[in-house]
Amino acid sequence: MNILILGSGGREHALAWKIAASPLTTKLYCAPGNAGIAREAECIALDITDHAAVIAFCKARQIDFVVVGPEGPLCAGIVDDLEAAGIKTFGPTKWAARLEGSKGFTKDLCKANNIPTAAYERFKGADAAKQYVRQQGAPIVVKADGLAAGKGVVVASTIEEAEAAVDMMFGGGLGEKAWEIVIEDCMVGEEASFFALCDGDTAIELASAQDHKRVGDGDTGPNTGGMGAYTPAPVMTPEMNKRVMDEIIFPTVNALKKAGAPFKGVLFAGLMITKDGPQLIEYNVRFGDPETQVIMLRLMSDLLPALMAARDGQLKNFNLRLYPDAALTVVMAAKGYPGAYTKGTIIEGLDDAAQTDGVEIFHAGTKTDGDHIVANGGRVLNVCARGQSVAEAQQRAYAAVDKIKWPEGFCRRDIGWQAIAREATRDDK
Ligand code: AMP
Ligand code: GLY
Repeated sequence: MNILILGSGGREHALAWKIAASPLTTKLYCAPGNAGIAREAECIALDITDHAAVIAFCKARQIDFVVVGPEGPLCAGIVDDLEAAGIKTFGPTKWAARLEGSKGFTKDLCKANNIPTAAYERFKGADAAKQYVRQQGAPIVVKADGLAAGKGVVVASTIEEAEAAVDMMFGGGLGEKAWEIVIEDCMVGEEASFFALCDGDTAIELASAQDHKRVGDGDTGPNTGGMGAYTPAPVMTPEMNKRVMDEIIFPTVNALKKAGAPFKGVLFAGLMITKDGPQLIEYNVRFGDPETQVIMLRLMSDLLPALMAARDGQLKNFNLRLYPDAALTVVMAAKGYPGAYTKGTIIEGLDDAAQTDGVEIFHAGTKTDGDHIVANGGRVLNVCARGQSVAEAQQRAYAAVDKIKWPEGFCRRDIGWQAIAREATRDDK
């Protein structure tokens, strides 16, 4: 089969790596791709916001199946457009992608279907929102309704901070003026990410993960798109995974099916594991980045038939097998990230680093410049490793990091620290 992946990050590199290994794949393309993806797939300089251009490409190259990476095209309806043109595509429709695109939509869906999440109200104006903040008290969480690239959430520890967040969002502080915000209770617990494949009718568990969002060691400094991740999340025991499927994922899939807009694709639940059990923080309607990079390392099964079964409504009797190992990724970013950074600096030693036991390196923001691989973004490389424990995976990943020669890059040195501390106490017993 001829397959096209849409996207250009570490997530898409990991998907390309896995799909390229499938015996079902004849020819793999990726648009627009990056220098690492180019080793697995033919990269095509397509503008993926131009749906007509993507359709024309698929027809010209006889593409049998398209896999969409990022949320932007999903929320813009690329699945609807490709499917209408007769091209099978993995991912949710525009309507179903509202689970990520609109927090208000998701909160209402949770409320109507008894899916555990923080109590909330939706607001279209600042006055009523601030009155609600004062009535509820702090801590409290203020969220802009639409896609905000992870910046649309303020966890306010005081009423003043929450009121300022309301004014900032309605005043255009996130770029565009928010047309609606959600205010919700602050949940207390441990955060984890959970991934399930859905076929519109049912869902199967993929894996859990945890990420490090802060730029600095010890989880300090500004938020980023993610500086590292590992899988599985120790807090996600088999019993907890089952609760998430029963209390959160299945009710969501059923609710969307009943509403006439079945969800097909991957549901990425951001969870707070509270003392009362799992609560939904938010949904994403796509694979996580960098979580996918580590999950693909653990996936024993062929990914492609699973994605096709999700598209075809055939997941019911599907079984995904994962290695029992842990996997961890360290993100290497350009110095300055998440603030200003320079592009075009030369990265060396990648082939040597990739020889490290258990290691795979996925490219996030790179390009080829003559004979060199150069940085082409903020987050640039995902140095990933599998191991029998998170500690072993971490040791292997950093051994590979230390072979990469990139003076203009940096990474955190403590990815996985909570999980490793937990493993250490377990080993002591
Ligand atoms: P979101 O974009 O909805 O994932 O929110 C970003 C981050 O804000 C989450 O990863 C949590 O750390 C935090 N957060 C969001 N909602 C809540 C909540 N209701 N209670 C506590 N923390 C939250
Ligand atoms: N790692 C978080 C995300 O993909 O949104």
